[in-house]
Amino acid sequence: MDSAPTLTDDLVTLRAHREDDVQGCFEQCQDPVSQEWTTVPVPYSMENARSFVTEVMPQGWAAGTSWGFAVEVDGRYAGTVELRDEGEGRLEVAYGSHPWVRGTGSMERAVRLLVDWAFDDRAARVVIWRANTGNWASRKLAWRLGFTIEGTIRAALPQRGELRDAWVGTLLPTDTREPKGRWLDVPVLEADGLRLRSWRDSDAPRIVEACTDPRTRQWLPLLPDPYGEAEARSWLEAQLESRATGRSACWAVVDPADEARVLASISYFDYTPEIECEIGFWSHPDARGRGVATRAMREVVRYTFEDLGVRRVSAAAAVDNAASRHVIEANGLTTWGTERLGIDVHAGRADLAWYDLLVEEWRRLGR
Ligand SMILES: CC(C)(COP(=O)(O)OP(=O)(O)OC[C@H]1O[C@@H](n2cnc3c(N)ncnc32)[C@H](O)[C@@H]1OP(=O)(O)O)[C@@H](O)C(=O)NCCC(=O)NCCS
Repeated sequence: MDSAPTLTDDLVTLRAHREDDVQGCFEQCQDPVSQEWTTVPVPYSMENARSFVTEVMPQGWAAGTSWGFAVEVDGRYAGTVELRDEGEGRLEVAYGSHPWVRGTGSMERAVRLLVDWAFDDRAARVVIWRANTGNWASRKLAWRLGFTIEGTIRAALPQRGELRDAWVGTLLPTDTREPKGRWLDVPVLEADGLRLRSWRDSDAPRIVEACTDPRTRQWLPLLPDPYGEAEARSWLEAQLESRATGRSACWAVVDPADEARVLASISYFDYTPEIECEIGFWSHPDARGRGVATRAMREVVRYTFEDLGVRRVSAAAAVDNAASRHVIEANGLTTWGTERLGIDVHAGRADLAWYDLLVEEWRRLGR
């Protein structure tokens, strides 16, 4: 086959590139997101776009080395998807969308058509996805299509003279084209005058203040030291990884009237679906003593029982950490034991008080 067939699911069409795609391609490659995550030349000229559409794409088909399609939605150019031959039935998938179509689900449909074609018509034995680490939009799309995210390969993808770390995923013909594992949401929750929202990069300074505070460090001594904005950003990135792999989710607690000023952090972790999870929290030093953590925890306890459907919620605090134990006890959790020398605190190793609450007990509390 030396030119692209037309594939469609009625809403999205994949077809051969045409001369009138040049303008759309040019616009797509001016977009900072495309420049950040792909190898398009920067700056990108109209001549680059013309050569891509009229030479690079058709040449791939003619040589049998790559198979690129233009994506069309509502009669408009919406991006490009491509398979690249890696030999022995291994095909690498690549995709990029024009900004106008992002967030509509169209690219998922486009890549689904492409992957089906790879297995059904090109007899692919595996489709491989690679992305620079941190490209969460791409990873979510790969996850939606059923790719198994295998891990990270350091210095794997050249980009404008640098070697970037890459995530790698695979899809086999026998895999279902559905997500493997959960990707945890962080919905906005209202908690008795407080709002729980997802974290933002701009929260880094407040995180630094909280995590360098002596009282925080007294009870959480394993925080990096020194702790600066780079550490805060790594923590936020690690949260995305934990959500994407179904392990934990974390909220920033704010006053709805001042969403930019984080008051506390609250998370659930060690999550086993339908069974249990643990809840943890810290408060910013200037937000302590006002019941912020208690109210936030009440809402997360409700969320984990009612919306996530766990049967048991647990929490733990160093025996001498009176404030933390108060928050846990105010939420109806009861202690079931002490793990001797169970936690690192600033002064060394300390006993750890464990608490839990079952869903039936929580219902009886009528919260
Ligand atoms: C990858 C791409 C095709 C996906 O398009 P899309 O499916 O329409 O999706 P969006 O760009 O709207 O984002 C997809 C999801 O990722 C999430 N996402 C985006 N950026 C994110 C970030 N920095 N952190 C966490 N999640 C992020 C979005 O919230 C969205 O999630 P939702 O659908 O559950 O709301 C498109 O983002 C793109 O063209 N990017 C530039 C080119 C590129 O990166 N290609 C892949 C190279 S491997």
